[in-house]
Amino acid sequence: MQLSFPTVIATLAAVFAVATPAAAQACAEVERFGVVTISPTTLSPGDTFTVTANFSCAAQLGVNPEYIDYYIKVPVNNNGFEPPILLARRTLNPSSATPLLDSFTTQLPYANYFNASYVVILDTTYPVNGTNGSPYSVVGSVEIPISIL
Ligand SMILES: *[C@@H]1O[C@H](CO)[C@@H](O)[C@H](O)[C@H]1NC(C)=O
Ligand SMILES: *[C@@H]1O[C@H](CO)[C@@H](O)[C@H](O)[C@H]1NC(C)=O
Ligand SMILES: *[C@@H]1O[C@H](CO)[C@@H](O)[C@H](O)[C@H]1NC(C)=O
Repeated sequence: MQLSFPTVIATLAAVFAVATPAAAQACAEVERFGVVTISPTTLSPGDTFTVTANFSCAAQLGVNPEYIDYYIKVPVNNNGFEPPILLARRTLNPSSATPLLDSFTTQLPYANYFNASYVVILDTTYPVNGTNGSPYSVVGSVEIPISIL
């Protein structure tokens, strides 16, 4: 079969039309509560570090944060003596130049740390609509591993 040039272009266009949405749809389901970046991730008490959370994908997936709370916690094999440590309780600033981005710098508290696997956990509180249309709030979490030395 001999394809005319326009047919080849049309065929390619069809291929790209199928391929492009997957590429443009960069928002994965795991990004629905925010994409968190911690820098640096190896910390000692008193160390300064930066936390950034990007809620662009969250917004695209219908999650519009009311409260954003950050904790340090031991997610597994917690012996009960390691309550979550509040790092910051924040809200997005809709009038900011980057309304879907939260970023702050803080210090690792001088807590008693154990030889355990710690994470920074982001709790994103956001509204959903109830069965009768009245809103209520639910909480989704994202965990980022850190090392505390
Ligand atoms: C936030 O995430 C979106 C979607 O992944 C990306 O396009 C944008 O560049 C990110 N913003 C920043 C400041 O990293
Ligand atoms: C910390 O825990 C790891 C894994 O359980 C273990 O291999 C390591 O020896 C421990 N380090 C100290 C200083 O207790
Ligand atoms: C809840 O319902 C309102 C009114 O219909 C709508 O504007 C809003 O987008 C809905 N919120 C969610 C999270 O579905």
